[in-house]
Amino acid sequence: MNSLLEKKILLIICGGISAYKSLEFIRLLKKKGTRVKTILTKSAKEFVTPLSVASLSQEKVYEDLFKAENEAEMDHISLSRWADIIVVAPATANTISKLSAGSSDDLASTIILASDKNIFLTPAMNVRMWEHPSTKENLKKLKSYGYQIIGPEIGDMACGEFGKGKMTEPKEILKKIESYFEGLIKNKKYEALVTAGPTNEYIDPVRFITNKSSGKQGYALAKSLVKKGFKTTLISGPTELEVDDNINLIKVETADEMFKATQDNLPTDVAIFSAAVSDFKVKNKKNYKIKKQEHLNLELKKNNDILDYVSKHNSLRPKLVIGFAAETNNIQINAKKKLEEKNCDWIIANDVSNNSIGFNSDFNEVSIFYKNEKIKDEKLIMKKKSEISDEIIDRVIEQLN
Ligand code: PMT
Repeated sequence: MNSLLEKKILLIICGGISAYKSLEFIRLLKKKGTRVKTILTKSAKEFVTPLSVASLSQEKVYEDLFKAENEAEMDHISLSRWADIIVVAPATANTISKLSAGSSDDLASTIILASDKNIFLTPAMNVRMWEHPSTKENLKKLKSYGYQIIGPEIGDMACGEFGKGKMTEPKEILKKIESYFEGLIKNKKYEALVTAGPTNEYIDPVRFITNKSSGKQGYALAKSLVKKGFKTTLISGPTELEVDDNINLIKVETADEMFKATQDNLPTDVAIFSAAVSDFKVKNKKNYKIKKQEHLNLELKKNNDILDYVSKHNSLRPKLVIGFAAETNNIQINAKKKLEEKNCDWIIANDVSNNSIGFNSDFNEVSIFYKNEKIKDEKLIMKKKSEISDEIIDRVIEQLN
């Protein structure tokens, strides 16, 4: 199996003596039928020429941010969208430091900051730079963001010293990247469904009841699933968010529509219910615009509980059913009650009384409660929703396997 065939890799070459090894890396990738677009940082051009990279990769080489011809052909966001993964080789101490600080002062760092793709760093630097506490701290931070680090190795250095800091050999980097894509092919047998966002429950043709959900948490989960190779359906209430074509996005508006779309797309291997589905709908919805009046009494009736229905369904129930719990108090007690009553395998609880996490924030902090008592309940401390999602999906894969 050639897991690299037709894959798209965005290679970022930074300025270090090992930049020459990246040429060999490109050659090996091309032999596997991989497409490689390359960015050269300013200092990389001191070590390798754009011409040699372009000849080997048979693709355009990108250099400066906002260069008119780059932006016309492919802007930096499209370049990141184009790639299946991003590899930084060599990753110098300076680049590692910039990435850990979230800088975006050149094309390479801007693309990385704006990307939600998996990023592989292959550090290469002098042994003392490698051992410096600030490099260690920077890498620790990047690892916690989900960056994957390949190497470095121990050996003789160009500067005459011996120790850890040599860039991993191209054929070894290739093996690591190959096994990453093999993992995706393994997960590809899995299908996932995610619900996200709010629902709108109409009072009349122009007015509805809704809630503060932005869909960010559910969309991040769908993206993490796709990154790990899952065939993913995202059933979304009304949001402002966009997704790439590799997610099967089904847009709905009401809880009834979300319920129907969910049934139509099950069973899958895993279903994650992160939508803030309205618990009620208006009993006698008017099909004309209600006129202004002193008092208006609305009678509400219960919506179907989608999670509850799916969890208890014989043929539609996925192997792994994960619910969310939006709580403001007694989080553990309430979440565990939902776990039991709704018959799901996990409940992921978030404290929505805290405005800096949960609804409409880019961040979340969650506690995961498992039905299987052999698995210890755990807390994922406050992180970006994309990072929380990556961690959740790692646990999903562990459980499915
Ligand atoms: O969308 P964001 O702005 O990113 O915010 C994310 C979030 C706070 C909405 C999300 O993290 C979250 O907590 N989602 C669940 C919200 C919720 O409705 O919780 P609940 O405790 O009321 O419902 C429990 C579970 O039952 C949820 O999985 C919910 O999707 C499901 N449910 C509820 C009612 C219903 N009629 N059908 C359902 O499937």
